[in-house]
Amino acid sequence: MEKTAKLKINDSMYELPILEGTEGEIGVDISSLRAQSGVITLDKGFKNTGSTKSAITFLNGEEGILRYRGYSIEELSSKSSFLEVAFLLIYGELPTKEELSEFTNEISSHTLVHEDVKSILDGFPSRAHPMGVLSSLVSSLTAFYPKSLDPNRSVEEINGTIIRLIAKLPTLAAWSYKNRMRQPIMYPQNKLDYTSNFLHMMFGLPTSDSEVNPIIAKALDQLLILHADHEQNCSASTVRIVGSSHASLYASVSAGIAALWGPLHGGANQAVIEMLENIRNQGGDVSKFVEKAKDKSDPFRLMGFGHRVYKNFDPRAKIIKKAADDVLGQLGINDPVLDLAMKLEEVALKDEYFVQRGLYPNVDFYSGIIYRALGIPTDMFTVMFALGRLPGWIAQWKEMRENKEPIGRPRQIYTGHRNRGYIDISKR
Ligand code: CMC
Repeated sequence: MEKTAKLKINDSMYELPILEGTEGEIGVDISSLRAQSGVITLDKGFKNTGSTKSAITFLNGEEGILRYRGYSIEELSSKSSFLEVAFLLIYGELPTKEELSEFTNEISSHTLVHEDVKSILDGFPSRAHPMGVLSSLVSSLTAFYPKSLDPNRSVEEINGTIIRLIAKLPTLAAWSYKNRMRQPIMYPQNKLDYTSNFLHMMFGLPTSDSEVNPIIAKALDQLLILHADHEQNCSASTVRIVGSSHASLYASVSAGIAALWGPLHGGANQAVIEMLENIRNQGGDVSKFVEKAKDKSDPFRLMGFGHRVYKNFDPRAKIIKKAADDVLGQLGINDPVLDLAMKLEEVALKDEYFVQRGLYPNVDFYSGIIYRALGIPTDMFTVMFALGRLPGWIAQWKEMRENKEPIGRPRQIYTGHRNRGYIDISKR
């Protein structure tokens, strides 16, 4: 028998279906409520609203569980490669050896971008933030691949768009950095693996074959896996909602990059390092900053702390904290900012304010420390997050299209003026 919830509004009773997910998550389906009663629901920031049914990523914020297509983030980040995880997220299953080899080859053969992209890049001032450049360049791909504008084309054509995007994002990301540095762009070297190729385009020399440090490539690959998807977060929801108007994949992902940029979302990784450096420059007194974060009259927040969903711990942060320690050790780097981060974490986690609100270090708290050790400049940190999140955005977009989801269009409670007569300008 179908389970239902009963909702009483004034004197009328309404019955609404109850849905249950495969992990026992329960939701009340309110989609018929307005038709039945004329009433809508209000939930600012969608704190308690499911926007879709999804089979991609499961997370349980209370228990700190994160799984892509049923596989734990702990296993995937230690045993898999980023492209394997991308295949899993996008197509639903781990690839066989043959499938992975075909997927990798296809991606390797699409890494070049049209030469005219360089003239778009040249138009940006060097001070342009790489996230803004990246979002624009991804959107510009629609001009070079006009057929991609129609998301209703055949499965093969959509797949071609997906492959191109995965292949070209590292090239565009590295070029956005080169623009910043006013250095000549580097072309991809397709014999390199995905992550090494990106590092080559960032730091390689144009005159010789790149020698990418395998420790750095492996650490970055693991970071990309840890960022690959996170169910209906701000940028994934943006990608889905933009795509729901039948905008192209490139346009939808460009919007996702813009959503990720903000300091409350992916931009936090840049903000964390800037905060830690600021603490260090002011003498290293972490308690002062913990007090500042608690002060409601001060807009300052501890960046890299807190999460909408995780209220116990962020499983990605746990893995990254250990990786930061390992990578710095392997590279022989002693970064005082890592010690400061650990001190800050220790003080905050003992503080009643943070304990009561369930505020723990999130994925962005330690990732910046690894990026720094790998030689990635601070304003490229969020670009790294975007590279990692790409397969998630694609998987979310594809699922939304395949499930033929309707256009996203929330309602509102109007609080403005009621109908009033126009006042002539001479009387205002
Ligand atoms: N420092 C100080 N106080 C905080 C912080 C923080 N970092 N985060 C939350 N709070 C307080 C907040 O003031 C509120 O207190 P009160 O109940 O007294 O009003 C309470 O904790 C709940 O916070 P909220 O802002 O209502 O929670 P939210 O779910 O809307 O926001 C968040 C989640 C991640 C935006 C927020 O915790 C935050 O701003 N953190 C800092 C930015 C950050 O690290 N973002 C990266 C998120 S993880 C990467 C990603 O996937 O995007």
